[in-house]
Amino acid sequence: MVNENYTQKDGRRLFEEDKLRALADPEFRAIYEAESSKKRTMASIGKGTQMELINLSNYETLAQNHIEPAAWDFIQGGSDDEVTLRANRSAFEHIWLRPRMLVKGSASNLSTTVLGTPVSMPILVAPVANHGLAHPEGECATAQGAALAHTLMTVSTFSTRSLEDIAASANAPLWFQLYLYRNLEVSAWVVQRAEAAGYRAIVLTADLPRLGNREKDIRNNFSLLSHLDLANFPGAEAEENHYYIPFTPTWETLDWLKTVTSLPILLKGILTAEDALLALERGVSGIIVSNHGGRQLDSAIASIDALPEIVEAVAGRCEVYLDGGIRRGTDVLKALALGARAVLIGRPIFWGLAVNGAEGVHHVLEILRAELELAMILSGHYSLDTIDRSLVKYI
Ligand code: FNR
Repeated sequence: MVNENYTQKDGRRLFEEDKLRALADPEFRAIYEAESSKKRTMASIGKGTQMELINLSNYETLAQNHIEPAAWDFIQGGSDDEVTLRANRSAFEHIWLRPRMLVKGSASNLSTTVLGTPVSMPILVAPVANHGLAHPEGECATAQGAALAHTLMTVSTFSTRSLEDIAASANAPLWFQLYLYRNLEVSAWVVQRAEAAGYRAIVLTADLPRLGNREKDIRNNFSLLSHLDLANFPGAEAEENHYYIPFTPTWETLDWLKTVTSLPILLKGILTAEDALLALERGVSGIIVSNHGGRQLDSAIASIDALPEIVEAVAGRCEVYLDGGIRRGTDVLKALALGARAVLIGRPIFWGLAVNGAEGVHHVLEILRAELELAMILSGHYSLDTIDRSLVKYI
């Protein structure tokens, strides 16, 4: 099917070129009708009962129908050969669970705290730019979905709704993810606005000194900036360099950040014990083990494989989180067993948002919650407190 010149109508893609060709070419018409019928079936699943959407992979399949192809590639893609993107998933398959039997217990309790904030489960929303690509209400709908699931959302610097609007749209606890700008005063201003709006922590992203080589975006001529509203920077178009150009953070940036905010600081994008120790020296409250969803350095270690050495190095002196490739409750369980306080999910939030706005985000989170709960019970854990390293074995 030809992917150019599509239009978007009722959230579904119509391929104008395909339609014209189908009218003129009987052979192509059969293919076109079969494709259209497939799309209608998928869309009706999304509109009707959510019973058919039973896992995150179902959401992924359906979401593609709702998102413009180049934006879809931007969301789904990784850097270079996408080795790290794939490894984020496949690494979980080398980690096996050692379930315990005949354990006494009743209803399982998944609630926990993240930097002191209570959440109903150890599953949080990762910072992901540009939710407006998936839904007109963008990050506001995502925040509502997170609030319905009683969990925390991390808001990207590159949100399509302002950080104040997002905070006002729902009562989910929020962290603010920070990309630095050439002018540090602008960064300080954004951080202080986040603090004033009630955000509970600043997440400094460490793994983006430059944008990774995302070949799908190059091929599609997809520029993130041209799709961004940059809602946190009103008037930014007028002063492109001033606002847009990311400023490469260094270890000293953490010292600077502490002078502009009293909020706790998390460092996101750490993959080695060495860097975890440097982060501790600089007084961070949390580390997010992450390779940016395989979008930055290709061949960087899968985040779940980097987790154990970081947990060991940190030795309980700050909280450790993980993101990258979490798609099942058993993935969450493995991360918790290896020492993560909680996990964050990125792309699946986009899928839920694209399929059904706030409700879709909520449902994606509830699917993961139910899967985690079942995996805990089946492995003999009725509380997060009993989960430890003995639950996993590498084969
Ligand atoms: C991201 N990620 C990201 N990280 C960040 O610190 N700031 C950001 O603005 C973004 N934007 C962004 C956009 C898109 C489309 C994706 C897919 C990812 C990375 C994100 O926070 C997280 O590390 C990964 O998405 C986690 O991997 P999964 O859950 O997508 O596999």
